[in-house]
Amino acid sequence: MIKAAVVGASGYIGGELVRLLAMHPEVEITAITSRKYAGKKVHKVHPNLRGLDLRFTDKYDFDADVIFLAVPHGTSMKIIDEFLGSAKIIDMSADFRVSKELYEKYYGPHEKPELIDKFVYGLPELHRKEIKKAELVANPGCNATAVILALYPFRDIAKEAIVDLKVSSSAGGRRENVASIHPERSHVVRVYKPFHHRHEAEVIQETGVKPMFTVHSVDLVRGLLATIYFPFDGTERDLLRRLLMYRNEPFIRLVTDKGGLQRYPDPKYVIGSNFVDIGFAYDAENSRAIILSAIDNLIKGGSGQAVQNMNIMFGLDETTGLSYYPVYPV
Ligand SMILES: NC(=O)c1ccc[n+]([C@@H]2O[C@H](COP(=O)([O-])OP(=O)(O)OC[C@H]3O[C@@H](n4cnc5c(N)ncnc54)[C@H](OP(=O)(O)O)[C@@H]3O)[C@@H](O)[C@H]2O)c1
Repeated sequence: MIKAAVVGASGYIGGELVRLLAMHPEVEITAITSRKYAGKKVHKVHPNLRGLDLRFTDKYDFDADVIFLAVPHGTSMKIIDEFLGSAKIIDMSADFRVSKELYEKYYGPHEKPELIDKFVYGLPELHRKEIKKAELVANPGCNATAVILALYPFRDIAKEAIVDLKVSSSAGGRRENVASIHPERSHVVRVYKPFHHRHEAEVIQETGVKPMFTVHSVDLVRGLLATIYFPFDGTERDLLRRLLMYRNEPFIRLVTDKGGLQRYPDPKYVIGSNFVDIGFAYDAENSRAIILSAIDNLIKGGSGQAVQNMNIMFGLDETTGLSYYPVYPV
């Protein structure tokens, strides 16, 4: 069994990691940490986990083969020395995802730049071979996951892409924030970040495209949809041919239906799963394409992708503990 610890387990990503790891047939959870809830049972914070016999600790002296750091960006780089060398590390924060230059442009000063190159960017569909050998993995951001996977097959021609993201409230984490309380968040379609969203850095690094990237907060608890527009001088078949690079990916579903309400990806149909649904529309008259990509931000956008990475790092089948369909309706 793989012994796993989750640091920052009282947050939304930490909670989902505990849920997925508790159901994983090859994993034993040896520690879950929280400073605020140390000593409390896990269900006091994550009521969906009632019945799971785990308590939070604020000590880092645990026994683990893999440690998930589910803490805010800027925190992983402060605490990572506690864990280096003791176990494989999968960091959920942005601290080791991009180069020092990109990090400092989008986030601010980096305290551990010498470690950045030791991390592998944990997007399995693009970096499976490196992840297999990695001791340290930087798990991608949720928006970045959806956008990179949709844009990658078109990176040579989509330099002027416009990326429109509609994002749920759980993407902001569990911390208190007036903008996220129910009266403020309910029924919104709010432009959250018209330019320079942090996740743009990962898209630039992984695709070479510098898209026009706008993020909207919408009235969902989980899930996100990326809608990507760019000129495309080809045929619908050419579009599909490029997307078929994903034909053997266990977690990418190409949505190619011609009719019906569900002919395009929608977060509603991936919630609770590690799937990415990718689809497209083509305007032949004006040579314009739209690529759509929907994920559950907490699973393929976070905890599920981290478990997928863990499976690869430990030589397990990549889908172990992750092969379930989305819940529906949500
Ligand atoms: N939410 C998403 O959709 C999503 C998707 C992908 C990646 N991520 C990334 O995953 C990480 C966690 O996100 P989240 O949404 O779960 O955030 P969150 O709900 O705010 O949880 C953050 C967790 O970090 C712990 N923490 C905060 N400061 C700490 C410190 N100095 N030392 C130790 N623990 C500390 C908190 O625990 P205590 O205060 O109880 O100690 C809490 O459990 C972030 O880096 C985020 O960017 C989030």
